[in-house]
Amino acid sequence: MSIPERKVDPRIQMFAEAIGTAPGRNRLPERNVLVVGAGQRAVTGAEEIPGNGRAIAMLAAREGARVVCADINAQSAAETVARITAEGGWAQPLTVNVAQAEENARMVKQAHHAMGGLDGLVLNVGTSHGRSLDTLTSDIWDREFAVNLRSHMLACQAALPLMAPGSAIVLISSLASQRPNGRNPAYEGTKAAQLALARSVALAGQRQGIRCNAVAPGLIDTPLGRVATQKRPKRAALVPFGRQGTGWEVAYAAIFLLSNEASYINAQSIFVDGGLGTGIAM
Ligand SMILES: NC(=O)c1ccc[n+]([C@@H]2O[C@H](COP(=O)([O-])OP(=O)(O)OC[C@H]3O[C@@H](n4cnc5c(N)ncnc54)[C@H](O)[C@@H]3O)[C@@H](O)[C@H]2O)c1
Repeated sequence: MSIPERKVDPRIQMFAEAIGTAPGRNRLPERNVLVVGAGQRAVTGAEEIPGNGRAIAMLAAREGARVVCADINAQSAAETVARITAEGGWAQPLTVNVAQAEENARMVKQAHHAMGGLDGLVLNVGTSHGRSLDTLTSDIWDREFAVNLRSHMLACQAALPLMAPGSAIVLISSLASQRPNGRNPAYEGTKAAQLALARSVALAGQRQGIRCNAVAPGLIDTPLGRVATQKRPKRAALVPFGRQGTGWEVAYAAIFLLSNEASYINAQSIFVDGGLGTGIAM
């Protein structure tokens, strides 16, 4: 018997978790978490939808963690802090430009000091100039690798000696790590290399019982995602379940990996893409 074709209603699956209205469940009690890229880009009309970093920071706080919200955009980091504080959580902003190599260690030390410890690190900063192979320059290539990859390595290098046993690190990669469809080789290269970096950090952290994993989002309706969709409207035409993911859905994967619920999950990549990467599409 064949299953009758029917139009998918994208609202079917918009659970409280997916829209960020579920209450915290104390999954990160007393944890000290640094989220790098905890602000978000300002996009007119998208002020209320959270970017991945803001959603991760807010959810970590809701789950009981103290959170340092680091970002190059001081105003945006302060906005994330304000939202956390309004919910009764503990958060502090930290302004940093992770493109400057030495800034990464300073950021980690300051966050460690501010919280009185560090046992969670989420590296969410990711930028793209959107250059196809024929228009890429070595300067843009280097800048994207400095921001999206070198900074992650430097932050992990600085964090491992300071982190408590049993800590967890999460790198925010992308489905672009697997696919050339975005015609964006520098971005795709950084995102693929992040998966390898997560494995190297996991190996280095093993003796201290520190885990490192990557979360690879697919098409997500963040402010950045909206800009990408404006540039390439077909980007979202065939997405699974008839909708893009939300920053909250990315955040839940990151929170799981940070939490002790994931104690034996290490050096892995979790794709939060609705199945798009394996061919699930409308
Ligand atoms: N939105 C999507 O569809 C999607 C899909 C796959 C992966 N991702 C990844 O998720 C992550 C976050 O994406 P988002 O959509 O929330 O984007 P976003 O642009 O809203 O958030 C990125 C944050 O990083 C900050 N930042 C940029 N450069 C910085 C620097 N040099 N130093 C410090 N902070 C800096 C920005 O100010 C911003 O607050 C990125 O790594 C992105 O590659 C997003």
